[in-house]
Amino acid sequence: MKGIVFKEFADMLEATFGADMYDSLVEACDLPSGGVYTAVGTYDHTELVALVIELSKRTGLDPTTLVQAFGKYLFGRFHELFPVFFNHDNAFSFLESIENVIHVEVLKLYPEATLPRFDSELAEDGNTMHLTYYSTRHFADLAIGLIQGAFEHWGEEVQLSMEDLTTGDEQKVRFTMVKA
Ligand code: HEM
Repeated sequence: MKGIVFKEFADMLEATFGADMYDSLVEACDLPSGGVYTAVGTYDHTELVALVIELSKRTGLDPTTLVQAFGKYLFGRFHELFPVFFNHDNAFSFLESIENVIHVEVLKLYPEATLPRFDSELAEDGNTMHLTYYSTRHFADLAIGLIQGAFEHWGEEVQLSMEDLTTGDEQKVRFTMVKA
């Protein structure tokens, strides 16, 4: 996974829990990278998982909560870093563009990126959207945080539910979003 994601995670941790906490997590996890990430570098996604598990032990917050919170934070950072992708009238339109626009551009910027795949389906009445996430890295919780960030950004209320359809190595999760 590209360093930009790790760097943002490290920044969030330092801002929330302090630099000492971050250093101590890195030490406890004995990471190959030493916990020093550059945006264009590529690192094993399991380093992020290790940091989350260690942080979970110390804070008592479960890994799901931590990864979802990071997803929301990351949404805000992506908005600051790549405003061009946010030129949409509503969250559904933005979410539909991840697979065929956003992540396509991300891959041009970072050719080594390992991106998830998304299938989207918008109901004819425009009030319900299904978004299915596929990835061998199992970061559906990160997707949830990013999705929640999008609805907050556009000031929309939705009911979000999810169905885990994973059968093999690849995580497959179908999100259903219904406008309130
Ligand atoms: C401007 C918006 C976005 C940008 C610039 C962006 C960019 C990226 C980048 C750079 C990565 C790391 C790739 C790697 O090296 O492996 C990534 C991964 C990911 N992106 Fe996006 N993304 C955006 C929006 C979204 C949204 C809205 C979602 C959620 C629905 C999403 C879901 C994910 C997930 C879950 C991953 C983790 C990798 C995985 O699951 O396999 N992204 N994205």
